[in-house]
Amino acid sequence: MTAETQVTRALFDEVMVPNYAPAKLIPVKGAGSRVWDQDGREYIDFAGGIAVSSLGHCHPALVNALKDQADKLWHLSNVLTNEPALRLAKKLVDHTFAEKVYFCNSGAEANEAAFKLARRWALDTHGAHKNEIISFAKSFHGRTFFTVTVGGQASYSDGFGPKPGAVLHAEYNNLESVKALISDKTCAIVVEPIQGEGGIIPGDYAFLQGLRDLCDQHNALLVFDEVQTGVGRTGKLYDYMNSGVTPDILTSAKSLGGGFPVGAMLTSTAIAAHLKVGTHGSTYGGNPLACAVAEAAIDTINSPEVLTGVLKNEQIFRECLQAINEEFQVFAEVRGKGMLLGAVLNEKYKGRSRDFFLAAADHGLFALVAGVDVVRFAPSLVITEAEIREGMKRFAAAVKQVVAS
Ligand SMILES: Cc1ncc(COP(=O)(O)O)c(C=O)c1O
Repeated sequence: MTAETQVTRALFDEVMVPNYAPAKLIPVKGAGSRVWDQDGREYIDFAGGIAVSSLGHCHPALVNALKDQADKLWHLSNVLTNEPALRLAKKLVDHTFAEKVYFCNSGAEANEAAFKLARRWALDTHGAHKNEIISFAKSFHGRTFFTVTVGGQASYSDGFGPKPGAVLHAEYNNLESVKALISDKTCAIVVEPIQGEGGIIPGDYAFLQGLRDLCDQHNALLVFDEVQTGVGRTGKLYDYMNSGVTPDILTSAKSLGGGFPVGAMLTSTAIAAHLKVGTHGSTYGGNPLACAVAEAAIDTINSPEVLTGVLKNEQIFRECLQAINEEFQVFAEVRGKGMLLGAVLNEKYKGRSRDFFLAAADHGLFALVAGVDVVRFAPSLVITEAEIREGMKRFAAAVKQVVAS
């Protein structure tokens, strides 16, 4: 590549592995919930980098933490520990059920650690027969081969040879389907408290409590995948705090770094003890830059103003979506919590979420889909009312375009 090489979308097709199909525009700058592309066109961001940019783009607290740490120390590996990682772990422990933290770099890695820990705990405490993991249809836990196999969409794990075994899938929000699968061979139940990629489907609190009870009855661990719901997105630091159902292991990523890659697995001291020295690891996990940014994100998000602001923003989103629906009759319902909402398309528009997503981009708005029937919104937790209303004006224009097409 020379200095003159033009960076265009065509370059993606030329040099990138074709496992993604990104939009035509290329963003170059962001501030708050606004983004600008190479041509200087401005977009409102209701996508948040898929529930990641929890404080919008270039939030001063995160920029300062990153710049400050960048001048001090970037990387050590796990042969040495570092101050930002220990400070972040202490904060996560102080503000959740957890007593121990393991750091990694993504949601998939956090889940990989959780599943390996559950298997090792079961082996050590009950024996080799106790190795079955129960998860749910439509669930999503990442793209490593173990996590994608635990995930509830076989099409994502098919075609890569033999899959990790002893993984069973029950039906979400159907406790009877779990009872039919659980036994003393079960080592863990893995659940998203709100299914994200599966279509923004909230778990009933009675269902989540039922899973807790079943785990207790069968000496199995309850793992909450809070990669998408965690770090303020549903108005609490973690969504388990809304239901009052406490897991044994919790995984976190996405919003935790506000855009800087970081993941974490949280658990108790007794369970953590089974990941002895050498059983698991990551070169970058606990990286000082990542942990310094995540510490600033937690400090900023875990405040009454931001957390109550998330619920206020949810109300504004719901009012605006209701007004759009009154005009155009496109949604059957809006579901989800806080800044993780899904507008479910009605019968007439079923299967067309991508059309709404593309029309939104045409009108200067980043939205998301969650499957073919749901338009998903996962913006910054601190998006302003003015940004929401401007984004909704653009979304209304997009809906009008789809309805007229
Ligand atoms: C609930 C959940 N778990 C795990 C993941 C995987 O996270 P990552 O892409 O950071 O590996 C995702 C990503 O969408 C997710 O929504």
